[in-house]
Amino acid sequence: MSTITVCTTCRVPEKKDVTDEPPCGEAFIEHMRTAAAEVEGVSVRPVKCLMGCERSCNVALSAEGKLTYVLGRFEGTAEDAQAVVEYAAGHRDSETGVVPFRTWPQGVKGHFVARIPPLSAPVEG
Ligand code: FES
Repeated sequence: MSTITVCTTCRVPEKKDVTDEPPCGEAFIEHMRTAAAEVEGVSVRPVKCLMGCERSCNVALSAEGKLTYVLGRFEGTAEDAQAVVEYAAGHRDSETGVVPFRTWPQGVKGHFVARIPPLSAPVEG
């Protein structure tokens, strides 16, 4: 099971100070739930702020014992959500969380912010 954690309070930089519209994160999680609805082993959960506000909209992809990825600079569209869910399916299928670059959906390229090793993995320091 791979889980996509979506920040629901993200606002795209152009609308950072617009408070009379819902944040793009609210639409993003709905698009994400729709895109993941028929995908086995990919779940979606909300969170308020992933502390990447300057790179909104943000998501994190994680699974027990696998690499965690943080992605940002999305607009929160249905197409963005589809790309993240496709990538998450690759993450689900990978033993380590590494998804072969040749299989990356175009829509995730250029959106990676951080890669975090699982706590159970030895790290080079
Ligand atoms: S509001 Fe989304 S990362 Fe802070």
